[in-house]
Amino acid sequence: MPRKKRKILVTSALPYANGSIHMGHLVEYLQTDIWVRFQKLRGHDCTYVCASDAHGTPIMLKARELGVSPEELTEKISAEFVQDFSDFGVDFDNYYTTHSAENEALVGAIYKTLRDSGDIYTRTIEQSYDEKEGIFLPDRFVRGTCPRCASKDQYGDACEVCGATYSPEDLIDPVSVLSGTKPVKRESEHYFFKLSDYEERLREWISSAALHKSVIAKLDEWFDAGLRDWDISRDEPYFGFRIPGTEDKYFYVWLDAPVGYMASFKNLCDRDDSLDFDDYWKAGSDAEVYHFIGKDIMYFHTLFWPAVLSSAGYRTPTSVYAHGFLTINGQKMSKARGTFINARTYLDHLDPSYLRYYYAAKLGPTIEDIDLNLEDFIARVNSDLVGKLVNIASRCAGFISKRFAGKLADELAAPDLFAEFTAASETIAQHFEAREYSKAMRLIMALADRANRYIDETKPWIMIKDDDKSNDVQLVCTQGLNMFRSLMIYLAPVIPAVAEKARTYFNEDQWQWSHASSPLLGTILPKFQPLLTRVEADQVHRMVEQSRESTSVPDRQ
Ligand code: MSP
Ligand code: ZN
Repeated sequence: MPRKKRKILVTSALPYANGSIHMGHLVEYLQTDIWVRFQKLRGHDCTYVCASDAHGTPIMLKARELGVSPEELTEKISAEFVQDFSDFGVDFDNYYTTHSAENEALVGAIYKTLRDSGDIYTRTIEQSYDEKEGIFLPDRFVRGTCPRCASKDQYGDACEVCGATYSPEDLIDPVSVLSGTKPVKRESEHYFFKLSDYEERLREWISSAALHKSVIAKLDEWFDAGLRDWDISRDEPYFGFRIPGTEDKYFYVWLDAPVGYMASFKNLCDRDDSLDFDDYWKAGSDAEVYHFIGKDIMYFHTLFWPAVLSSAGYRTPTSVYAHGFLTINGQKMSKARGTFINARTYLDHLDPSYLRYYYAAKLGPTIEDIDLNLEDFIARVNSDLVGKLVNIASRCAGFISKRFAGKLADELAAPDLFAEFTAASETIAQHFEAREYSKAMRLIMALADRANRYIDETKPWIMIKDDDKSNDVQLVCTQGLNMFRSLMIYLAPVIPAVAEKARTYFNEDQWQWSHASSPLLGTILPKFQPLLTRVEADQVHRMVEQSRESTSVPDRQ
């Protein structure tokens, strides 16, 4: 029975366009890309959009420091992002920017609906202000002594030594990181969204959204603490969209950023006749919408965003999929240790397929942090991808091309064994669907072991020397190559570039998930080209060395 074709819209968080994509970001973009490729391989209508997050104070100040306009800065950085993503095989259907006409129009319209339905009010608040620079200071731009443990030089929102959280006004001897002067308190009128009115609707959404239990636990904490109304405005100077009807107020970057998901999709719909914006976003839509994010931005995606969407009369997300943070060799990424590795630096030394596989082998659906241990990375990639997977093909392909003119046999030597490979298909698919990639990888590698054992036992290299048996080598190798082919189809979402080479070798136009269950027989195959080489420890060491050098001066965030 044919499965129902699903309409799915998927997003990854929009990276801030003021730095470089690094190994931590890639956890998210690779996790999402694998899921999207899996859905497409299954035959669903799946659309993957993203954009650069262009607004906010840090980007404005960074541009100022570099002597360029924020538009110029974010365009240049976005172009680098696009190249990095594409080289890692992250295949967006659209990559856009939040600083777009579509986004401004959508944010303006959403704001108007929120205001008309009484969900917006204004209130005057006091904030830290840098008189020398003439700017209100975000918490991170004030530093001082921790009021709890007296550690010096801590951020205005939290102490990195004792973990206390507070507001910049609580710091002892606060200074502005911009001018080094002492901030003063200044009043200004701000616009607030009545998040507190949405508790019940959010609880309903949460129970329908099949969030992971680790996410729900976090949400329970936030509900227990009580939902506070959300300040959605910022004063001039600010890089963002001006609030309609004001002269000097801007939408806070976190209001227009998630709307950027819609705007990127809108921009795509305007070019692609097969996609209709309302079909995906109107209330009651039967399309599925998933946001992949890191655990640090859950509050925005599981509280503010669904509340804003429902206030504005749109559908809410089907679910929000949060992942944990990356550590390298068990520790936070560090410039001093050379483990603050940018995407580009990795690409200068290593094949992206290695990382895609390694992350998949580690990823699950929880918000637990994941560790990239560089020794383990080398061992795992060499043993699994090269030693187990690719090896199946290299052990069989030579006999087929040299002794049988490239022709596969018309039947399999061991159909029962092949049936084990097709029987695993739905379990593997369920693992991908549930973001249980590590379970999927384990199952696939167990099958790869099984295939290698089969070749070890049948010993085609001995059979070929025996005139009575040499013809059976074609059957055995057809069996081996077909087991390899099924595994490559299962792995196509994870290592698409390798799968592409394998597909070309098998002379097939395209692969769908179901193709893994029917063997390829009787066709002529070209000469086999090596699919992937081993990782050398040296390449990894050089990458670490380069990361130590090129980023020795810490970025200001
Ligand atoms: N601009 C916001 C997102 C707006 S979405 C409407 C933002 N940008 S970010 O560049 O800081 O992060 C982008 C994504 O990368 C986030 O989901 C974040 O959690 C993720 N990661 C950034 N560093 C990470 C690690 N070290 N490890 C894993 N994911 C990390 O947040
Ligand atoms: Zn402290």
